Amino acid sequence: MIPLVYDQVNGWGKDDEFFLALLKKIDIKTMADLGCGTGRLTTYFAQQGYQITAIDPNEEAIHVAKSKPHTENVTWIVGDSSNLQTAAYDAVIMTANVAQVFLTEESWHHLLTDVYRALKPGGHFIFDTRNPLAKVWEKWQLDDTPDKAIDPETDDPLEIWTTYDGFTNDVFTFYETVKNAHTKEDVVRLKMQLIFREKETIEHNLLQAGFSAINIYEDWEFEQATALANSFVFHCIK
Ligand SMILES: C[S@@+](CC[C@H](N)C(=O)[O-])C[C@H]1O[C@@H](n2cnc3c(N)ncnc32)[C@H](O)[C@@H]1O
Repeated sequence: MIPLVYDQVNGWGKDDEFFLALLKKIDIKTMADLGCGTGRLTTYFAQQGYQITAIDPNEEAIHVAKSKPHTENVTWIVGDSSNLQTAAYDAVIMTANVAQVFLTEESWHHLLTDVYRALKPGGHFIFDTRNPLAKVWEKWQLDDTPDKAIDPETDDPLEIWTTYDGFTNDVFTFYETVKNAHTKEDVVRLKMQLIFREKETIEHNLLQAGFSAINIYEDWEFEQATALANSFVFHCIK
């Protein structure tokens, strides 16, 4: 993620509404927003009155997040799941496909173990991830027009170009380049990698980590997921 332009190209959507609706359905007070990024959703959670710890390894993203309104009562941490406190939260939430950044089995296992440790008994783990069977990367690769943004400091117009390396095993690699639209100079270039795990694999991993009552929703509706889903939302209980 590139904090400079992230909020401008990732507007509020159905996915965000779904997370808020799901949180309202469960009675919780304390939560951790893991992989909170620029705090796009964290600030909404804070406005709903949740006590939030928001964690992300990207220091620049946390800096952007902290500068937003409604963030005074959020505990911001530059870090990862190892920074979660033990038996401390009613819910841990990971939004906008954070689950896909854990590329190795080892890092995925550590994440699930840390989240399980961090939840109070009966606590909720909620996250979304894309369905590999929907092959969304095929659509991404057809779109060769840049996203547009504005440099918040200079007001210069920016273009965000994406190029694709494709898959190695289940990991999809691509590059995002932010260019100044006038000078065509590169402002930022970032290698991005996402793993696409199958629904059944994730379900199995959650059970192995100790979670139960696993609900899997489809495409931002309170419907049980099918193999045709574009995205899954997992909701499970410690
Ligand atoms: C697509 S962004 C999602 C940001 C935010 N949750 C949202 O809804 O806008 C993915 C985030 O995962 C973070 N991330 C990368 N590695 C991570 C890790 N090991 N643990 C937690 N978050 C990580 C990135 O820094 C990035 O902010």
